[in-house]
Amino acid sequence: MPDTNQPPALGEARCPGTSWDDIIAADSRPAPGFLKEDRYEYMGSAPLDAARYVSHEFFQQEVQKMWPNVWQFAARDEEMPEPGDYVLYENAGRSYLLTRQADGSVRAFHNVCLHRGRKLRTESGWAEEFKCPFHGFAWNTDGSLKNIPCRWDFGHLSEENLVLPEASVGRWAGYIFVRDADHGPSLEEYLAPLPEFFSRYRHEEWVTSVWVAKVVHANWKITSEAFMEAWHSVETHPQILAFTGDANSRYNVYGDNVNVALQPMTVLSPHLDREGRSEQWIVDSFLRFAGRAAAAGTTVEVPEGSTARLTMAEANRQIFSALGYDHSHATDSEMLDALTYNVFPNFAPWGGFTPAIVYRWRPWPDENHTLMEVRILTHVPKGQTPPRCVDMHMLTDDQPWTAAAELGALGGVFDQDMYNLAEVQEGLKVSKNGKVNLGNYQEIRIRHFHRTLDKYLSA
Ligand code: FES
Ligand SMILES: [Fe+2]
Repeated sequence: MPDTNQPPALGEARCPGTSWDDIIAADSRPAPGFLKEDRYEYMGSAPLDAARYVSHEFFQQEVQKMWPNVWQFAARDEEMPEPGDYVLYENAGRSYLLTRQADGSVRAFHNVCLHRGRKLRTESGWAEEFKCPFHGFAWNTDGSLKNIPCRWDFGHLSEENLVLPEASVGRWAGYIFVRDADHGPSLEEYLAPLPEFFSRYRHEEWVTSVWVAKVVHANWKITSEAFMEAWHSVETHPQILAFTGDANSRYNVYGDNVNVALQPMTVLSPHLDREGRSEQWIVDSFLRFAGRAAAAGTTVEVPEGSTARLTMAEANRQIFSALGYDHSHATDSEMLDALTYNVFPNFAPWGGFTPAIVYRWRPWPDENHTLMEVRILTHVPKGQTPPRCVDMHMLTDDQPWTAAAELGALGGVFDQDMYNLAEVQEGLKVSKNGKVNLGNYQEIRIRHFHRTLDKYLSA
């Protein structure tokens, strides 16, 4: 048996053959440093306990020790642009009303009436005041008490003691975060180095133009981890191998909270035979199945002697400059690849200059169910006022992701992912050895995630 405490020898740690470095070195523009760096870190090879996914006690530990102490992506600016707009955000036994203030700032109030505890709101909307539907206690949208009906009966209550409790709020690039705890790292510290990298992509200039959600019958970590590695594509998404360099991907980890899989697209999977497969076939497959490419029906011809990657990058550079953004400096990688960042515990924005996928996963409401949301952010046409956010399209239990036509080819990819998840949950419940084994390289993000989770649970 190999010693599981020893890191793999250099050269054995990565897929042999073409590397991520080889691919971006051949791109038509120099890549920014953060796409070139190698930040892999060996974290041991011990298996994970299945109980982390299926035990209610473990879930309760997460609720008590982790969720209140992390910055959670709660809303985007375009969901609540006007004073009085509020977003109901609920997770892990907490309910918040993120509320736009008159000065443009955002505050997050606990969504509980301080009389007898009714939730003040059960959906997002606009309010002049938060008046409880039960007996009519009312609060101003800055959280101060506005009115107590039958005031004569509440002489024992003071206005100061009835201010709505607040959670911490942080904002970055159009994203609004809440944290239950009033202490801990600033949002900027927590997200580092993501804001530095995304200063190229400027998500503050994008809006949510697609937003689809569905309850998945699996633990929230099983669900999110299905999006942390590229190599399940070989078995789960065979149609994308034509243009996905699954095993060529680079996996980087940064501090406790940020990691990324940089997955090259428009290159043939190392798992497919090159023989008889043309560069044109790669482009045709990419346009048909990639989901973030140009509109359906778009065709792109690979000139004699060129490659799928150079051709498609240039095509995307033209297509996605139409809204007034200049992509002449963007690397091929930034016009094509899946640059799939994760921020602990459940926020995953993709980098690059083509429409950005953003995932969020929340327990819904227990260890066996997850609310998975998929957004696609697109550029606001240069010089225009950002439109309001689209409504979230909630799929029912018996609707597949393909029922959300707005997802295009991505819907079919998510259905393929879903095919596994409930079966993983059920499998782990009946596992004889109760262990999960991870690859040392391609699954390092999963190990990184659990290492950080353990820091919260053992604190
Ligand atoms: S519970 Fe809210 S006013 Fe009574
Ligand atoms: Fe997948």
